Amino acid sequence: MGRSFLRNEHFLLSVIFACSSAWINDWDKPFSFECPEHSFISQIYSVHDNWFEDRRFEIGCRNYTTKLEKCRWSEAANKFNQPLIFQCSGGEIITGMRSNHSDIQEDRSYQFKCCQVKGVLTYNCEFTQVLNSFNEEMAYTVPPGQVLRGVISYHDNKTQLSPRFFRTCINVK
Ligand SMILES: *[C@@H]1O[C@H](CO)[C@@H](O)[C@H](O)[C@H]1NC(C)=O
Ligand SMILES: *[C@@H]1O[C@H](CO)[C@@H](O)[C@H](O)[C@H]1NC(C)=O
Ligand SMILES: *[C@@H]1O[C@H](CO)[C@@H](O)[C@H](O)[C@H]1NC(C)=O
Repeated sequence: MGRSFLRNEHFLLSVIFACSSAWINDWDKPFSFECPEHSFISQIYSVHDNWFEDRRFEIGCRNYTTKLEKCRWSEAANKFNQPLIFQCSGGEIITGMRSNHSDIQEDRSYQFKCCQVKGVLTYNCEFTQVLNSFNEEMAYTVPPGQVLRGVISYHDNKTQLSPRFFRTCINVK
């Protein structure tokens, strides 16, 4: 949400900086991001804006040594204002992310793209520490030799201040 002149101002800025920006979404807007073939999501950077009550994302991908196959999009992993607790099935890793924003609930809903890693079973899956607080920026890089399998994120109903913070679930190859 926001007054229209601010939206316009923002739009102008986006155009001017379009070449150097790696944001995959605009404030309050949906997005659909997929890593190139053979690669998985290895970096997530996100900032929050108090005016829009929303987050923008930058996502990086890393090549996987084995072929990724049988890719599928999950159902929506959360409803607006509900916790997000998601992981791909065993043997799958996250290679894409789609999202919707609700101006009424000031929250996002997410879907994830999961691909099977041919001939590899993931194991030693564990959660990272909580990566950020409500409304704070979040930056996470999957450590070398590991992959991303899941995400946990909560929304703060009381303050409405925040979309979500993320935790990632990691599998060691
Ligand atoms: C990733 O793997 C693909 C297919 O093997 C290859 O074409 C591409 O150059 C690789 N990218 C990087 C950054 O290594
Ligand atoms: C977008 O929102 C609708 C409800 O308005 C929901 O059914 C759908 O699953 C959402 N899509 C994503 C990607 O979260
Ligand atoms: C947050 O609000 C939603 C309704 O919008 C409710 O279903 C959910 O249980 C609430 N979560 C918490 C942690 O209170």
